[in-house]
Amino acid sequence: MDCTTLQNNILKKQQSIKEKQKQLAQHELELKKTESIYKACMKKLKKKPTIAEMRAECKKQGLVYDSKTKKCRESLRRKKKAKPVAKPATKSVAKSAAKSATKSATKSAAKPAPKPKPKPKPKPKPKPKPKGKKGKKQLDRRPLCPIPDGFKWDGRLGQTGKDGETWKVLDEKGKKYACKIFSANKSEKLIKKEINDQRKMGDSGVSPHVVWEGNKCFLMEMVNGPILRNVNIKKYTEKDVKELTEIAFALAKAQIAYADGNVKMNVMYDLDKNRWMLIDFGMIYPHSKMTKIAKKNKITIEKQYLLNAFNILMNVEILIMNKIYGAQNLNYTPIGGGFVPKKSFPSLIHKLNELGLLELNSMFSIYKKNRERKGKYYDSSKMIGM
Ligand SMILES: Nc1ncnc2c1ncn2[C@@H]1O[C@H](COP(=O)(O)OP(=O)(O)O)[C@@H](O)[C@H]1O
Ligand SMILES: [Mg+2]
Repeated sequence: MDCTTLQNNILKKQQSIKEKQKQLAQHELELKKTESIYKACMKKLKKKPTIAEMRAECKKQGLVYDSKTKKCRESLRRKKKAKPVAKPATKSVAKSAAKSATKSATKSAAKPAPKPKPKPKPKPKPKPKPKGKKGKKQLDRRPLCPIPDGFKWDGRLGQTGKDGETWKVLDEKGKKYACKIFSANKSEKLIKKEINDQRKMGDSGVSPHVVWEGNKCFLMEMVNGPILRNVNIKKYTEKDVKELTEIAFALAKAQIAYADGNVKMNVMYDLDKNRWMLIDFGMIYPHSKMTKIAKKNKITIEKQYLLNAFNILMNVEILIMNKIYGAQNLNYTPIGGGFVPKKSFPSLIHKLNELGLLELNSMFSIYKKNRERKGKYYDSSKMIGM
């Protein structure tokens, strides 16, 4: 071999060493990367799962998480329900089964098997109470209410509410009345208070007049029309706003802090009077609570009563907007979107704004915050009444 070939060989070898070193460095880099991934993975594995994660894991297996043992176990309720046959034989069950088997097979068994305990008789099931159309129990409290002579019962009115039972009553001329009968154990004081509030509101013309009262019931004019839940409304006009505002002012004037948010059952449309009416003065906040809130809100007690009344009637507006524009569009209506509409758009918002109480209305401010939070994702081009 000559010197040049030898030199070439050396150069080649040096080149290949360099390449191998390069590859080695690359492999080392990859190794480091994989090692760090592996470390993170192990860390995750070692991390204790949270209780929520454990619960979810147990649920996946059809078990429940026991916070004492910190392990999954079978649900106690299911254990009780499961028939003993289906259960895996525990020691005692197996023993007693074996005993009864030997007893029946050979009477001459060495050890007499203990007598099986008599099974406790199943408790007699309570008789099902008479139920109404929708499965709700229907009480009949008419014996509590001795209506005056000349009046007669004419069937139930609407759905039995939380507190009262309301019946239709006819006078001699066939004029219709509503009779609200309270439960036998409702306090006399509360009954008197409700009838008194009903009287005040009846005198304001935004609620039925009281015509007679007993100890556990009273008779009032009948609202001939549907409750808000069943009203089929296509358009909300200034007339509606005016009537709802009248209700709000009547409540505030009588210092009645209406507390029943279930307006869909307690606001009715009187087809004879052609106007909105409010019924049911059974849930009222005490005056002391109102003074406290007024202090917190830094407003007068009169304004606090107005705010409370408008808050209730804003719920009516929400329900009406829902009916007219659909639940999916509610957030584009002034009340659902929490914005003040143009003057020509009928809304209680204008009234509250005039009174300087708009920002204190919780629904309005919640919806407003919601719209602001959504920001650019809020499609303002769809807004109704801007
Ligand atoms: N004056 C009335 N005229 C017509 N229906 C009435 C009248 N008062 C009550 N009702 C009907 O009876 C239902 C229950 O009356 P309500 O006073 O709201 O009782 P509760 O205190 O149990 O909620 C109402 O939702 C309505 O359908
Ligand atoms: Mg009611």
